[in-house]
Amino acid sequence: MLLTALSSSLDLLSLETWAPGTARQVLAAEPNDPSASAMAGAPRPVLRLNNVSLTFGGVTALRDIDLDVAEGEIRAVIGPNGAGKSSLLNVVSGLYRPDRGAVWFGDRAFSQVPTAQLAGFGVARTFQNLALFKGLSVFDNVLMGLAHRVRAGFIRQLVGSPLARRIEAENRAAAAEVIGFLHLKDISDRIAGTLPYGLQKRVELARALVARPKLLLLDEPFAGVTLSEKRELAEHVRNARDRYGATIVLIEHDIGIVMELSDHIAVLDYGRKIADGPPAEIRSNQAVIDAYLGVAHEDETELAS
Ligand SMILES: Nc1ncnc2c1ncn2[C@@H]1O[C@H](COP(=O)(O)OP(=O)(O)OP(=O)(O)O)[C@@H](O)[C@H]1O
Ligand SMILES: [Mg+2]
Repeated sequence: MLLTALSSSLDLLSLETWAPGTARQVLAAEPNDPSASAMAGAPRPVLRLNNVSLTFGGVTALRDIDLDVAEGEIRAVIGPNGAGKSSLLNVVSGLYRPDRGAVWFGDRAFSQVPTAQLAGFGVARTFQNLALFKGLSVFDNVLMGLAHRVRAGFIRQLVGSPLARRIEAENRAAAAEVIGFLHLKDISDRIAGTLPYGLQKRVELARALVARPKLLLLDEPFAGVTLSEKRELAEHVRNARDRYGATIVLIEHDIGIVMELSDHIAVLDYGRKIADGPPAEIRSNQAVIDAYLGVAHEDETELAS
C-alpha cells in the first residue's frame, strides 16, 4: 500500500517536471486543447497523433499523420518497407522529434515526447531489432522493465533499508507473475542471448508488460519467428490486452495475423496515412491494395486476393 502510494507520488513528481512553462516539450493540457470541445462527450483517446510530420534530409518519413487510438483497442499500423511505421513509434516514444505536430497521451500534448518519462506516462515498447540485455537472465531482463520505479538517487538513499527490500520484493513478484503469464517460467534463469529468437521476442514482450503499461507499442513482435511461434505470440498479445487492459499499437507485416488480431488498422505508404479502419474495410480498400501491389511483398499481396 505504502509502496503503491510512494510509487504514484514519484510518478506525479516526474509529471510535474513537465508542467507547462517548465518544459518546452509540453504543448498543452486541457482546457487549452483546441480540439477539446470537438471531443466533448467522447472518450479521450489513449494516444493521439495530431498532424505529425517528420523528415530526414530529403526523405519524408511521416507526412501530416493524424491517429487516434482508443482505450483497450489493438491498433495495427501496416505498410510496405520504408512506409514510416517505425518512425511513427519512434515519435510516440520520443526517440524522434517531429518537425511538426503533436503527440497526445490522454490530455497531455508533446512536440517531443520526453523518453525518460515514458514509463511514468504508462507507456512501454518493444523494438524492431531486439533490445534485450543478452548477458542477463530472462528474469533479470524482465526486471529491467521496472527499473524506472527505482530511481538511482532515490534508491541509493534507501539501499539496505526495509523499504528498499520491499520494493525489490514487489518488483520480483511482478516479474515472476508476467513470466508465468507468458510461459517463460522454465527458462527464467537462462541467459537471454542464448535463447532461440522467438523466445527472445517473448522475453521482450514480458519486459514491456511487467510495468502493466496503459499503452504498449510493439514494433514487429512476430518478425523472424516460426509460424507456430507467431500464432502463440499473437495469442499472448491478445491476452495481454484482455488481462492487463493494455491498449496496443502493433506494427506487423503478416497481414493474416494483423487481420485476426486488430480492432483497427492504419495503413501508411511513403509516410502518408492512406487508410484507417476495421480489418474488413482495409481488406477491400483499393488504395491499400495498390500500395501493397506496388511493392509486391510475397506475404502482403494476399491482401488483394
Ligand atoms: N534515423 C533515420 N535516419 C535517416 N532516415 C531514416 C531514419 N529512420 C527512418 N528513416 C527513413 O524514413 C523512412 C521510413 O522509415 P521507417 O523505418 O519508419 O519505415 P518502416 O515502415 O518501419 O519500414 P520497415 O517495414 O522496413 O521496418 C525510410 O525512408 C527510412 O530510410
Ligand atoms: Mg520498421
